[in-house]
Amino acid sequence: LNNGLGQTPQMGWNSWNFFGCNISEVVIKETADALISTGLADLGYVYVNIDDCWSSVTRNSKGELVPDPKTFPSGIKALADYVHGKGLKLGIYSDAGLFTCQVRPGSLFHEKDDAQQFASWDLDYLKYDNCFNLDIDPKERYPPMRDALNATGRTIFYSLCEWGVEDPALWARGVGNSWRTTGDINDTWVSMTTIADLNDKWAAYAGPGGWNDPDMLEVGNGGMTHQEYRSHFSIWALMKAPLLVGCDVRNITAETFEIISNKEVIAVNQDPLGVQGRKVYVEGPDNCLQVWAGPLSEHRLAVVLWNRCSEAATVTAPWEALGLESSTSVSVRDLWQHKTLDRNVVASFNAEVDAHDCHMYIFTPQAGRVSDE
Ligand code: GLA
Repeated sequence: LNNGLGQTPQMGWNSWNFFGCNISEVVIKETADALISTGLADLGYVYVNIDDCWSSVTRNSKGELVPDPKTFPSGIKALADYVHGKGLKLGIYSDAGLFTCQVRPGSLFHEKDDAQQFASWDLDYLKYDNCFNLDIDPKERYPPMRDALNATGRTIFYSLCEWGVEDPALWARGVGNSWRTTGDINDTWVSMTTIADLNDKWAAYAGPGGWNDPDMLEVGNGGMTHQEYRSHFSIWALMKAPLLVGCDVRNITAETFEIISNKEVIAVNQDPLGVQGRKVYVEGPDNCLQVWAGPLSEHRLAVVLWNRCSEAATVTAPWEALGLESSTSVSVRDLWQHKTLDRNVVASFNAEVDAHDCHMYIFTPQAGRVSDE
């Protein structure tokens, strides 16, 4: 969507994966505080996004959306002021249907009024869900909210949550700043890897202004191992996915922090070239030894060696899978070890990778190739 936002994938936090409906203004404020005190905000995690269940179950007598008075007694505008006071941005959630997925009022047929409401609360981001949609095509239901947001005069990030229905990559670039390519993630290795593969299919359609959204991060929620979470974060970064943290950052562990605060991996996600990396090479049983890669600015490449097998193994990236001439010499920077190899590499690169773990690198081709004649 050409509203100036989403030049790189959005980064921040969202309440759903950890809190579900157990949200309140206290949780949102404490999360904003934690994003600052941990340093995550300085790394780019600036959107604080409230998901479903912020609203009362009915509109007021004027037909307006109202925050649940028990959990958000001070109202959304006061919360926006608080979050903005910390230099962060506040996001909210609604639904392109009669109700949200947790059966709060939806915005279908109320687009103009609700967009005005969101703008009057000084909101910065809208996630727009797909429940109770009367079987109306999403291509019809999502543009009216785009137009309503645009008409408010406030620039609001527009995140479509249509669950991949009707292949949004093919139509959503002019509608939203990101679009979901799949159903909901859950905190398991099977869910995460399945979604990675589904999202990969749409790589060609991502770019500045509009991103494929394979759903929010589960890192830190406890259902995967450290290696699996490292893979989750690395692949989401490489795929130019939104990096929306989904754990309780108020109580973040050192292990989780080490993953989501990796500056070098974040820089791959936020690279200005904005090309989604993809699965470029597979081998081994069930193709479980995988190379995922994509171009970065300044002729560099981001490369992930991903071992999806159940045993440690050597994962190899041949240059032809990366689109490099076999004679090209590259320097290799390891983004998890934070080390540059002391030799340059030609023709192929391999590493021993633990089960369900990955290594992530930046390859920088060196000038002066061996065979230039
Ligand atoms: C849907 C969305 C989720 C979340 C829930 C909230 O399932 O896909 O991301 O917003 O609704 O009810």
